[in-house]
Amino acid sequence: MIEVTNLKKVYENGFEALKSVNFNIEKGDLVCLLGPSGCGKSTILNLIAGLLTPTSGDIAFAGQSIVKTEPKDRNIGFVFQNYALYPHMTVFQNVMFPLTVGAKKMPKQEAAAIAEKYMKLTNIEDLKDKKPGTLSGGQQQRVAITRALVQNPQVLLLDEPLSNLDARLRLRIREEIRRLVKEVGITTIFVTHDQEEALSISDKIILLNEGIIQQNDDPQNLYLEPANLFVAQFIGNPIINILPVEVKNGTMHYETFSVPNERFVSDRFKDTMPEGKYFLGIRPEDVLPVEAGDGAFSADIDGVELIGRERILKFDVGSEHLKSIVKVEDQIEEGAHLHFDFAYHKAFIFKESGERIY
Ligand SMILES: Nc1ncnc2c1ncn2[C@@H]1O[C@H](COP(=O)(O)OP(=O)(O)OP(=O)(O)O)[C@@H](O)[C@H]1O
Ligand SMILES: [Mg+2]
Repeated sequence: MIEVTNLKKVYENGFEALKSVNFNIEKGDLVCLLGPSGCGKSTILNLIAGLLTPTSGDIAFAGQSIVKTEPKDRNIGFVFQNYALYPHMTVFQNVMFPLTVGAKKMPKQEAAAIAEKYMKLTNIEDLKDKKPGTLSGGQQQRVAITRALVQNPQVLLLDEPLSNLDARLRLRIREEIRRLVKEVGITTIFVTHDQEEALSISDKIILLNEGIIQQNDDPQNLYLEPANLFVAQFIGNPIINILPVEVKNGTMHYETFSVPNERFVSDRFKDTMPEGKYFLGIRPEDVLPVEAGDGAFSADIDGVELIGRERILKFDVGSEHLKSIVKVEDQIEEGAHLHFDFAYHKAFIFKESGERIY
């Protein structure tokens, strides 16, 4: 439904915000654009909406290039981070507004009927006669989304729509957004820099860094099968453990311990591992306490964090700080001396360039 090809954006000051971006979005999918601040998320949305012109490349809807189409004719619903509702209008007037002006202008009664229908869908019927100033952030958010939907756009673009809301409300509204866009069947791009938000609502996640797509995949795959070191470090909380290692004589050496290469599962290698420097990546839940004498290394626990049903152990190994997640029932306290090993079949190995080979 949305096909983006070799999209490049260089701003007037010469800054290259998008290098060469390629992706396709299926009709009806909810896709998250995820990445750190400044990676180019809003630039992509603004290019799709026509608020910016690409330096080169193409954007097509259902095979039809739209880069030469006027923004107002692109049939897009856009909700910005700071969704501005008209303060002097009621909720009902706000929602109906796009149907009373411009190309979509229609008889008042018809517009009112459509507005009513969508207000029902987004559960804001009760707010009909209120002014935006008297609504909570979450309610205003729902009004802004409803106003985008009444135009029956073929694409809905949401730029960090939940960033003004408190944590609990964010959780609820994001579930609502997912339910809503699935009910309406509208193709949606949702921008966020919150990985948990992206993981919980998307059909697909496009993870960007410095204007380059790092991975475009099912949400779970970003965690389980990261394409490179950046993805592995961006996704996951607590962050993945990374150890700089050197492979030599069939052994992987870290500052303070070594592991024979055979510990790694041969069919998990995507490439050969010639002697040289690498990064070993292990998620905290894959660093496992073992019996004394077993395992790759031992460490003094210098911090224990209890988070719900988990216990997060913190310790230093060589010059790196590592974390291990164990069950809250495992009575491990600060000061304990423990032996650890890795779940080798779930570890990752990255080249110095960041490319993943295992
Ligand atoms: N008009 C402009 N001129 C020059 N550079 C710009 C302009 N607009 C954005 N940029 C730069 O382009 C890069 C991408 O900006 P963009 O707004 O797309 O980031 P973003 O991923 O949406 O970040 P955030 O999460 O902070 O909203 C940033 O480095 C930004 O400083
Ligand atoms: Mg942005």
